[in-house]
Amino acid sequence: MFRPSSMAMGLISICLIFSTALHGQVMVQPAATINVNLQKEVAKVSPTLYGLMTEEINHSYDGGLYAELVRNRTFHKGWDEPAHWFLVQYGAAKASMQLDPTTGPSANRQLSLRVTVQQADSSSPAGVKNEGYWGIPVHANTTYKGSFYAKADNEAVGPVRFSIISDDTGKELASATSPALSSEWKQYNVSLRTGEVKASAANHLVLTIAHPATVWFDMVSLFPPTYKDRVNGNRIDMMEKLAAMKPAFLRFPGGNYLEGDHISERYQWKNTIGPLVDRPTHPSPWRYHSSDGLGLLEFLEWCEDLHMQPVLAVYAGYSMAQEHENPGPELEPYLQDALDEIEYVAGAVNTKWGAVRARNGHPEPFKLIYVEIGNEDFFDKSGSYDGRYAQYYEVIKEKYPQLQLIATAPVQSIKADVIDDHYYKRADEFYEFVHHYDKVDRNGPKIFVGEWATREGTPTPNFGAALGDAAWMTSMERNSDLIVMASYAPLLVNVNPGGMQWDTNLIGYDALNSYGSPSYYAQVMFSNHIGTEIVDSRSEGGGPRFFYSVTHDPVKGVLYLKVVNASSVPQAVEFKITGANQLKSNAKIISLSAQSTSETNTLAEPTKIVPVESVVEGVAQNFSHTFAPYSINVIVAESK
Ligand code: AHR
Repeated sequence: MFRPSSMAMGLISICLIFSTALHGQVMVQPAATINVNLQKEVAKVSPTLYGLMTEEINHSYDGGLYAELVRNRTFHKGWDEPAHWFLVQYGAAKASMQLDPTTGPSANRQLSLRVTVQQADSSSPAGVKNEGYWGIPVHANTTYKGSFYAKADNEAVGPVRFSIISDDTGKELASATSPALSSEWKQYNVSLRTGEVKASAANHLVLTIAHPATVWFDMVSLFPPTYKDRVNGNRIDMMEKLAAMKPAFLRFPGGNYLEGDHISERYQWKNTIGPLVDRPTHPSPWRYHSSDGLGLLEFLEWCEDLHMQPVLAVYAGYSMAQEHENPGPELEPYLQDALDEIEYVAGAVNTKWGAVRARNGHPEPFKLIYVEIGNEDFFDKSGSYDGRYAQYYEVIKEKYPQLQLIATAPVQSIKADVIDDHYYKRADEFYEFVHHYDKVDRNGPKIFVGEWATREGTPTPNFGAALGDAAWMTSMERNSDLIVMASYAPLLVNVNPGGMQWDTNLIGYDALNSYGSPSYYAQVMFSNHIGTEIVDSRSEGGGPRFFYSVTHDPVKGVLYLKVVNASSVPQAVEFKITGANQLKSNAKIISLSAQSTSETNTLAEPTKIVPVESVVEGVAQNFSHTFAPYSINVIVAESK
């Protein structure tokens, strides 16, 4: 998409811009000068500055990134038993269904759905249907992989028909028939292919039999094609959006999701590995049950697919209902669990947990640098975090001296390697806060801004929030000698009614489509265009909502000038660059702008606000440019 850039307003060298009269008043914006000295490197830009933070919230995985289409595939109880499943009785068929806590396909799965069919035949079959995560999405000419575990009391029952059916027409859009069931628990795999259907989410999945019998089902699953064709993998459209952010790391698995409300509901990584049928699943603090289909190895494979390093958060003895374990012997089992987890991620195949990872299908260890000890432990009113962090630090460092251990609250008894700071603010608050890290002591711990966001707009941020985010990112770039990593949160939201637990989230989706918010595009622009050095720069003048950052890549010979104009009137800037080789006179400029701060992207208008590329002419050691009202801009100036 192309729109004329702020170039159309021409180069302006006068000190004041007179813009359009608003409500009868002439608005003026003082011009700014940015002096850049390319010979003076202030510090290195952290190569891991921009990354992702993720947890199971807002149906981020179940009903989100994790491509499974069947909701409640393991038959947990809901208000109705079992949630999201319904009985199907076509024609004269008669059947009933109950949860059965006495039988299941594995030792960890002793709960299944018993379907008792009293009457059924091929023209009047009976069975069950699943409504999916706000529908079962279908696309034309696409192959879906179905599977389920089942057993029957009567081998004459025959096969199961596995079909995707349109809610509107009742027509089968794709179907397959399994082999005949047996009286032992067994897994059945089927393949379904759609024809020339219209893409739609208004569909459901139906499993039927055509003979009277009692049948038990568990782990009923349906997958569309996945990113990089991973078995048990992720949604393609969402992974592509994440890949476009060029993230350097993934912080997982939380967030509150790591801690759980209660210690018994913490993230227990050992329950999230190995065959899906052996994973018990668990209740999460965000008010829905987690399938744990996206478990520890799947997080790591997600890192592998997007070339991110894992930032592994380990449970550290505190859960959100003010439950904690005291430092000392009480904490030891949790610390041992964390050591095992680190070994699972990064240990060689000849270690106990490295061997388990190899058995799970990934012999190659993952490169691990950062381990986070807990999450937001400043909420622990008992004051136990200092001791808990110190205990983890001493033991983990002894075995893995190369690891950087992130503390989630200030600690006194030991110097933390890195502190994780979280900021959820309004745009105006971020504008006031942009100098916070300029003054922070460089001899203390490094900083990880592990959660941050401008919270304006729901379910995803509006353009006003994107301006707040961009202003904040200029300040993080300027301080990226101290801030080693930063990640927006929350990352994902299913926008269907009931899908969201947190108001402002970066990327929205339903079963069929996804979109990036203006804040998403601001991050794509910033993380794709950043130098390796922070260079000396100073500004004079400019309006109160004018922010900038200057980074340089001397090897590529590229200067990145980022300017955020969060005001409603244009901002003229004169750049004075010394120490540069001659710059090419035409530079690329990428701009994201809107008419008002409340404009936004939605599922219906996913690309209303997207970056637009154009050219700045006349780039030289001294040049001027006027930036549009409400705009986020990156000038990419190359040396000749
Ligand atoms: O990002 C949402 C929540 O905010 C996280 O789970 C928690 O760490 C923070 O309080």
